[in-house]
Amino acid sequence: MTRHDVPGHVAIVMDGNGRWAEKRRLSRTLGHQAGLRALRRTAEHGARLGIHTLTVFAFSSENWNRPATEVKRLMELFMGALDKEVKGMHEHGVRVRFIGDPSAFQPELQERMRAAEDLTAGNTRTQLNVAANYGGRWDILQAVRRLAGAARRGEIEPDRIDEETFGGQLALCGTPDPDLFIRTGGEYRISNFLLWQCAYTEFYFSERLWPDFNAEELDRAIDSYRKRERRFGLTGAQVRERANA
Ligand code: FPP
Repeated sequence: MTRHDVPGHVAIVMDGNGRWAEKRRLSRTLGHQAGLRALRRTAEHGARLGIHTLTVFAFSSENWNRPATEVKRLMELFMGALDKEVKGMHEHGVRVRFIGDPSAFQPELQERMRAAEDLTAGNTRTQLNVAANYGGRWDILQAVRRLAGAARRGEIEPDRIDEETFGGQLALCGTPDPDLFIRTGGEYRISNFLLWQCAYTEFYFSERLWPDFNAEELDRAIDSYRKRERRFGLTGAQVRERANA
């Protein structure tokens, strides 16, 4: 309720791969590859610090509108990453979960996503949630549709739908809400990520482009988080009183 040392759940919008590449006159694909290396570094450092859950925005529902070649290269990168990284993650006790609508991906990619989830399903050391073809509004709408269907079938009383019932239908059900939300790339937006789940999340915006994000910058974000008082709608005095109780 008050100050916390290490956030249990960190959500990241990994922005700036394209600009990082363009600054170096490289292709945007090379920027995304460097982004994948930054993700590996960050996940490893996060696990060492005791961050239990990392949720990263890899591909939004709006990213399909990017140039076709960039989308194709990103899909190849995801496919390659699943082939190369999953075994190592499994050995390190990482549980991988995908959130989003997988149906738009090629069947081979969907198959690899499922295989990664199945292989790592029993791991409990850390959890990596990869948002792919995800949008916060999509997430809320699919929950609404499911609950409306259940209400129509008489399985649930509409008046009884509360935050818990609703949260149980969202893509991240069973995972506590993010404690800390990090966005790199100098943009100050949520961009349709985890809209429901970030109601009381602390935000940290980094000027660094995602491929330049490293352990030091993660430490800085956590330092900033540690100094905050999480009030969850209470007054500062109430929070201090409860902490001392
Ligand atoms: C945003 O930067 C980044 C993306 C849309 C892709 C992020 C993907 C990775 C970091 C690879 C992760 C891989 C796996 C398997 C999880 P941008 O392209 O919008 O950058 P810009 O704002 O500079 O153009």
